[in-house]
Amino acid sequence: MDSVKQSVFRAVVGLGLFAIITSGLIATTQSLTKDTIAVEIKKAQSKALIQIVPLDEHNNDLLSDTVPLNEGGLLNLPHTTDAYIARNNGEPVAVIFPVTAANGYSGPIKMIVGIDTSGKVKGVRVVGHRETPGLGDKIEIKKSDWILSFNGKSLVSHTDEQWKVKKDGGDFDQLTGATITPRAVVSGVHNALLFFKQNQHVIFDGGKSGGH
Ligand SMILES: Cc1cc2nc3c(=O)[nH]c(=O)nc-3n(C[C@H](O)[C@H](O)[C@H](O)COP(=O)(O)O)c2cc1C
Repeated sequence: MDSVKQSVFRAVVGLGLFAIITSGLIATTQSLTKDTIAVEIKKAQSKALIQIVPLDEHNNDLLSDTVPLNEGGLLNLPHTTDAYIARNNGEPVAVIFPVTAANGYSGPIKMIVGIDTSGKVKGVRVVGHRETPGLGDKIEIKKSDWILSFNGKSLVSHTDEQWKVKKDGGDFDQLTGATITPRAVVSGVHNALLFFKQNQHVIFDGGKSGGH
């Protein structure tokens, strides 16, 4: 009887130890994976940001020179998100806004929109979407150069009516067989310019200047 109790005891202790070690291993793996994912996201962000404001045009650390933006609003942010400020020797060069374009064909389209201090678009990149391959996905820089058509455009160069796709009477090309996706992107970029116009002083004066 004693030996039965002993072997039950050993089995319970063994199982307990196994459970503790396994859950420890899972937790460690999860936290390592989380760190790796965070590093990869930062790398991808930094790559996209540098496409918009190249390294020879700024000398601060974009990723640490940020201004928090409230959720919702013109930029349609799902939660509080940072805007990035590019500076050269401390002087602002551009701001890069996160923007969510509502009403894509398959849901919201996440973009970053760079605007220089004079209010002109410096560059736009799509960083997340679920549009159809071969149709709506031509908004990606690696699929077509359509997204470059915003470069240099502003609220001065184009009226509110012109900030639309051609099919709606505006100035921007739609994509072949896909009007819904570009309509959403054009509207998102336009909203970023409107947001910039209303908030530029707060943005450039309120940002912490990091990493010169
Ligand atoms: C399977 C399928 C996928 C489609 N994907 C897209 C898309 O990703 N983006 C888009 O703008 N239109 C897409 N379209 C086409 C739209 O339904 C629509 O016909 C097109 O955007 C033109 O819109 P319009 O008639 O308002 O000009 C897709 C159509 C089908 C049948």
